Formats: sequence, structure tokens, C-alpha cells
Amino acid sequence: MTAAARHGAFHPLRVAAVDRLTDDSVTVTFAVPPELRPAFRHRPGQHLTLRTRFDGAEIRRTYSICAPVTGPDGPGTLRVGIRLVEGGAFSTYALKELSAGDILEVMTPAGRFVLDPRPGTYAAVVGGSGITPVLSIAATLLAREPEARFCLVRSDRTTASAMFLEELADLKDRHPQRFQLVQTFSREQQQTGPASGRLDAERLTALLPALLPVDRVDGWFLCGPYGLVEGASRALRGLGVRRGRVHQEIFHVDSTDGTDGVDGTNGTVTAGQGVAAAAAAAAAAPGPEESTLAVTLDGRSGDWPVRSGESLLETVLRNRSDAPYACKGGVCGTCRALLVSGEVRMDRNFALEPDELDAGYVLACQSHPATERVALDFDR
Ligand code: FES
Repeated sequence: MTAAARHGAFHPLRVAAVDRLTDDSVTVTFAVPPELRPAFRHRPGQHLTLRTRFDGAEIRRTYSICAPVTGPDGPGTLRVGIRLVEGGAFSTYALKELSAGDILEVMTPAGRFVLDPRPGTYAAVVGGSGITPVLSIAATLLAREPEARFCLVRSDRTTASAMFLEELADLKDRHPQRFQLVQTFSREQQQTGPASGRLDAERLTALLPALLPVDRVDGWFLCGPYGLVEGASRALRGLGVRRGRVHQEIFHVDSTDGTDGVDGTNGTVTAGQGVAAAAAAAAAAPGPEESTLAVTLDGRSGDWPVRSGESLLETVLRNRSDAPYACKGGVCGTCRALLVSGEVRMDRNFALEPDELDAGYVLACQSHPATERVALDFDR
């Protein structure tokens, strides 16, 4: 793998279709030309970063691929799910203006919220558009691995707002013995199934053991808004599930900088919540007055002073416009780099798993120097 391939490259792709899913969501299908198919091979659960310009300003958003993984030659099409976010520049554009024939720049697939097909029992708890990567994970797993089972617990506000209802019903029809689907609604009463209401830690603590033997699940996949993922994670901890079996991806949609247009599946997490607040307090501690950042990126090195208050990603971007990033919010993990020397403080981390932190990886968009010299390697 080349250094460039490690952290993704943008390619212009033609929009093949924009299909309405619900009143406030669509799927966007891209045509992938034969010569780019190997580069766009993806694992179930990965996402795409889309890039465009509005009023001269570049914006990037990441959206999960919702289609199952195809053959070894790479996909002829790629499909992402996009939900409208109030005030969100990109999602508004996608729902109201984007149409077949348009060209968008699309980064090659990325993300470590993945499950490669293998035998075993897997489960997911998802909220809202958090269903998107899990649809790809479940559909790929059930189609490719006859010895696998999947239990999906999903939460939506109402039937009308639930994305991919038909796709999940089809999956259930194809694999009635191996796919268990539990739908809950927070604002709508069902005639059968769980009562309406939020899917919080308390409810999940009661619900999950009634559905499956929690301690025999090989992998848990939690995806959706911060509150749901955090509640599900707490419930699983309380039920004795080991941390290494739980994978999570936060989808959120809130701006921390007051700007319009933070939207997308892997957007910016709301500030002021437990983890974020603790991390922000740590970041507020003073660092060295002057510091220097040494970077290796695509095999080339640079050495640059870090300006007061800026993140290490901002330092890199002032000098190298090809630095990898998408959300700038500590959520998508696109800016992951290995801390080769020195120390950093991270404002927040909703992307890196504990084993990645132990191995020395940091999120450049959230990192500030804690020592006078810091070295990052984006190629490892
Ligand atoms: S750019 Fe998304 S986590 Fe840093």
C-alpha cells in the first residue's frame, strides 16, 4: 500500500442517483469507473468523505456506505445515506439540489467501525441514521457467512422517520433464522414490540438479556447520537461485556463553533458532555510557550512552529494542504497519526479505540503540544 492510499485520496465521482428514503433523508449513489474500483474497495461499516465548495469555502462531510460489500474487483457503485440536518449546509444541498449527473469529490473509503464476515453472533444498537453503516455490516455478514447471526436493536422517532425500513424487512425475509430485528420508537406507540420511549441505559439493561445471551455475543456495534451510544455502552459494561467486544461510532450533528453547516453522519459532537468536558478541561492546561511540530506525510517530512491555540492539524494544513481530515471534531478518525515523539493533549476523542491510543495514535485535529517538540507520522 502506498503512503497516499493509507489516508485516502479524493477522486471526482458522478452521482448516478439520488433516491428519497424518508421526508428528511436520501441515498446518494455514485458511479465508480472501472479504473477507480480497486481504490474504492471498502469494508462493511466504512464511510466516504465528500468534498465540495460553497461560496468559495471548502466543506467536507463523511457519510457511511449503506450497501453491502461487493466482489474483489471493487464496487461499480457506492451508496451513502444522508439525513437532513437543520442548518446543515451539505445535507440541505444533498436533499434539495443534488441530482444525477452532478460530480462530487469523494475520498476513498475509511473508518475502523467495521466487521469483516466471520462466524459468530453479533449485535448492534443504533439510533436514527446510525443504521447506515450497520445495514452494510449486517447485510454483508449474513450474505457471506452462513454461520453468523445478527441481532439489531434500532431506535427511531417514528415510522416515517426510520431509514431503510424496506431493506431491513428484505434482510429479515432472506435470513429469518439468523437475523433478529427489534424496532423501537421514541415518539410512537406500536401495537406489538417494545413500548415507546427513549432507548436509554436502563431500558437496554433490561431489554438486551431478554433478546440474546449477552455474554456470548462476539462483537457489539453501537452507532448513533452520543447519548444513545454512551447509554448502550454503559448498559453493556453493567451487563459484564468486555470493552474489547464493543465498537462504537458517534453520529452527531451539532456545532461546537457556532458555524452553520455542521452535518453528516460523522459530524461534530456536542460539547459539554461528560467525556468531552473532561478532555476539554485537560486541554485548557497551559502547554509550552513555543513548540515545533515535525511531520511525515506521504513520505515527505516538514518541521513547523505551532501557533498558540491551534491544533496540530491546523499547523499541518498551513503548510501542507493535502493533510487528511474530514470532521475536525474528533469523531471520524480521518486525521489519525502516530505520535512518534513528544507529548500532546487531546481535546476529545470519539474515534480512536483504546488499543489505538495504547499504540500511540492521536487525532491531529484534537491535539495540542504538551512538549516543546512533537513529531507525528501520518503514514503509519
Ligand atoms: S478530522 Fe475527524 S477526527 Fe480529526
